[in-house]
Amino acid sequence: MCGIVGVLGSHEVAPILVEALKRLEYRGYDSAGIATVNNGVLDRRRAVGKLVNLSDRLVHEPLAGKSGIGHTRWATHGAPTEGNAHPHQSGPVAVVHNGIIENFRELRAELTAAGLHFQTETDTETVAMLTQHNMNGGLGPVDAAFAVLDRLQGAFALAFLFHGEDDLIIAARKGSPLAIGHGDSEMFVGSDAIALAPLTDRITYLEEGDRAVVTRAGVEIRDANGTLANREMREIKMDATRVDKAGHKHFMAKEIAEQPVVLANTLANYLTANGEITLPDPGIDFTAIDRLTMVACGTAYYACLTAKYWFEQIARLPVEVDVASEFRYREPPIPARTLALFVSQSGETADTLAALRYCEGKADKIMSVINVPESSIARESDLALPIFAGVEVGVASTKAFTCQLTVLLMLVLKAAKARGTITDTQMADHISALRSLPALMNLGIEQGEAMQSTARKLAEARDILFLGRGVMYPLALEGALKLKEISYIHAEAYASGELKHGPIALIDKSVPVVVMAPRDTLFDKTISNMQEVMARKGKVALISNAAGIEEAGDGTWAQIKMPDCPDIVAPILYAIPAQLLAYHTAVAKGTDVDQPRNLAKSVTVE
Ligand code: F6R
Repeated sequence: MCGIVGVLGSHEVAPILVEALKRLEYRGYDSAGIATVNNGVLDRRRAVGKLVNLSDRLVHEPLAGKSGIGHTRWATHGAPTEGNAHPHQSGPVAVVHNGIIENFRELRAELTAAGLHFQTETDTETVAMLTQHNMNGGLGPVDAAFAVLDRLQGAFALAFLFHGEDDLIIAARKGSPLAIGHGDSEMFVGSDAIALAPLTDRITYLEEGDRAVVTRAGVEIRDANGTLANREMREIKMDATRVDKAGHKHFMAKEIAEQPVVLANTLANYLTANGEITLPDPGIDFTAIDRLTMVACGTAYYACLTAKYWFEQIARLPVEVDVASEFRYREPPIPARTLALFVSQSGETADTLAALRYCEGKADKIMSVINVPESSIARESDLALPIFAGVEVGVASTKAFTCQLTVLLMLVLKAAKARGTITDTQMADHISALRSLPALMNLGIEQGEAMQSTARKLAEARDILFLGRGVMYPLALEGALKLKEISYIHAEAYASGELKHGPIALIDKSVPVVVMAPRDTLFDKTISNMQEVMARKGKVALISNAAGIEEAGDGTWAQIKMPDCPDIVAPILYAIPAQLLAYHTAVAKGTDVDQPRNLAKSVTVE
């Protein structure tokens, strides 16, 4: 949600900033801008829409200078216009910002009363104005910016650049991540290590409340109390930040295709050769836990819903699952012996982080399943389990979902073993099912071509329903979410048994219904519901294995054949057709698959 970059370099900085913003564009793409200082002169260029518009602008109106900051925006306050685009400048200061300044109205009123005039509707302009106001009052850039930081409420990452200062960027983090990159006589600031990957692999992550004075000579970091802070510099493995499409048309296509390899890697990180599941220290004593509270947003929430079935059936642990934006304000009681478990690809989702903080001091243990080990959610957990999915660039989550499910399933098995609810034979079967997944996923992905004709038909629909029963119900929800976010077709999912309690009224010959039904113990029940749809002229696309299609495929509108698989891993395998159907439907409609409208990858505002 908004990407920030800053460079104190030894070369012209505008192309470097644009290149870094390209790597951050997944965080927001409503507008973009950069500011530089050239021989002391502060100037900026901004453009609405994708980054390419800013690049075009810079061709015609170049910006010189070896120091600069840049921003790619996901609009919060104020429409995505050039005026509202970052950097925001007020006199001698330019500011880029990710997050929300919650008390900006109060600050704005104060500055307006002091005779200052605002040009934009954004909260960020307040930060620039207040800094200028402090400088007008006689403070130098560092003191002026620090005094502003003391007054800001909300969640933010900020970078400041100053007229007359060729060798200074001030950076601050409260609630939104920010990293400092170390070069050779060059220094960098970025929302994440991905932005800085081609520039440096030496990164210092700012901690909550930190403020940093960055010059080419290095960085001085102070904590929220103003005390000098020593923050570790780490070497980031370049592999972890490699971002390219590897010959695919879209990042989403690449990320779907690489799931077998990525998932094999996830398994290798948790499974020993003799089938033991290992967790990082300190582990969790599942015999000391009576219940689980799982909290997440979007796709990660559907991973939690799936895991609820597994935890309850296999480990006999009662689970409550909630969306983070509801949980955090619901003030739910957290009984003793509760494990709170948060799932998040980015590890920075504002609502999930707030829910985690709500559980601090209430739950026995706080655990997370994350893709970014340095993220806030990981760092604030007692135990963080990485999913090892690698960088996910496509805004629609794919490989993170299947890796989240895989890690959660291993956690379930670990819990079941500790609680004595699983036999050795069942355990061995489940482990071997997990090990078979990469090969099964490959077979599933091979069906992609066959799915294209179904997708072309789906692309003509206005509304599409997804049905699933049991553990396939959360997957139906995920299928509907994937489809609506990238194809913009209205899609809803229902537990198939719930259909006749209302939603069946929607069925007619114009509404395709995607039924996710491997030939498992609930198959007959789901198929009865499917027949009810067909009896009302609903067009059914049945996703099942060969036995399921042979038994129930007659009269369906489309069929998608998955390889046979052990029931336990079906939700992970069947994520593939859910993803591919959405992908090919979006391609058939010609939408922007990797950067769908109105969305951003990492939702760091509530
Ligand atoms: C959908 C999608 C979102 C995210 C959600 C949570 O494809 O990607 O629904 O799953 O915004 O994000 P994380 O997992 O980063 O907390």
